[in-house]
Amino acid sequence: MTIPQRVKLVEVGPRDGLQNESAPVSTEDKINLIEGLIHAGVSYIEAGSFVNPRSVPQMADSDQVFAGLTSSPGLTLAALTPNLKGFQRAMQAGVTEVAVFASASEGFSEKNINCTIAESLARFEPVMQAANDRGVAVRGYISCVVGCPYDGEVAPQQVDTVSRALFDMGCYEVSLGDTIGVGTAGHFKRLLDFLLRQSSADKFAVHCHDTYGQALANICTSLEYGIATVDASVAGLGGCPYALNATGNVASEDVVYMLEGMGISTGIDLDRLIGVGQSISELLGKPTNSNVGRARSTS
Ligand code: HMG
Ligand code: MG
Repeated sequence: MTIPQRVKLVEVGPRDGLQNESAPVSTEDKINLIEGLIHAGVSYIEAGSFVNPRSVPQMADSDQVFAGLTSSPGLTLAALTPNLKGFQRAMQAGVTEVAVFASASEGFSEKNINCTIAESLARFEPVMQAANDRGVAVRGYISCVVGCPYDGEVAPQQVDTVSRALFDMGCYEVSLGDTIGVGTAGHFKRLLDFLLRQSSADKFAVHCHDTYGQALANICTSLEYGIATVDASVAGLGGCPYALNATGNVASEDVVYMLEGMGISTGIDLDRLIGVGQSISELLGKPTNSNVGRARSTS
């Protein structure tokens, strides 16, 4: 397999990043963040989620965030929708692409979305049906593809079972979430060796939280398997409210820097992206989690 020449970066900072912030972030600041990312050339941004606002209060204003954004050709602004209610809210907000999210482990499924894996898949069916009726594309996530904070190690077979179910119900892509960032290049090799026996690399994305500092190595390994879609979060924002001690996603700046060095294009202006990372870090009053952002800091 040859390494892809172009990679699609899925920017999840406004959702995966901000969902985990303890201090409230205003709707206006969220919109400014997303507009900055668009200005930097990011073409796919997960801008919010339509989950129970009591479970994740930071995403309660996602409808207002979407109302304040203008889409344009070549730009996708997507949202998480855990069930039909979330999908309907997303449609009212004018969202054009959504993602459903399952887990490869039962423990995380229960904690995150309050149901078993099988129940979650059943909840997605009406979402897929409604999305199909409206011509809305649906991405699928699988959390805990290597390890689970409640159940421990997760076998590739478990990921395979869930990914097949998501593809069968109509997800165009499955993003493989190392939610707690425990995976190494060895884990990703074993996982991709298993998954790619049945499905092609262009059906998968990788979503690496960087808790153990392995994310770039895991992304590099995934590129060698032909994976050409990488999720990342500007300034390495975030974590998961249901995975204690899990840090944010790999920083978008670090991914773009690495890809540029490998001669792989993303269409993103790294300097502008670094500026966005600096602004959001200042706004949140915390240091950036991006090594590149730190190295290029102007303050
Ligand atoms: P539930 O309690 O099983 O649902 O929640 P329910 O149907 O029994 O409803 C309970 C209450 O929630 C009801 O309200 C519903 O109306 C309301 P009440 O009658 O009590 O007033 N409700 C909703 N309200 C607004 N929007 C909705 C919605 N659904 C129900 N869509 C549910 C199930 C999944 C909704 C809940 O557990 C939830 O919202 N969990 C939050 C999950 C979440 O956002 N987690 C973080 C994102 S996932 C992630 O970060 C991982 C990822 O990044 C990949 C990786 O890193 O691994 C994607
Ligand atoms: Mg995540």
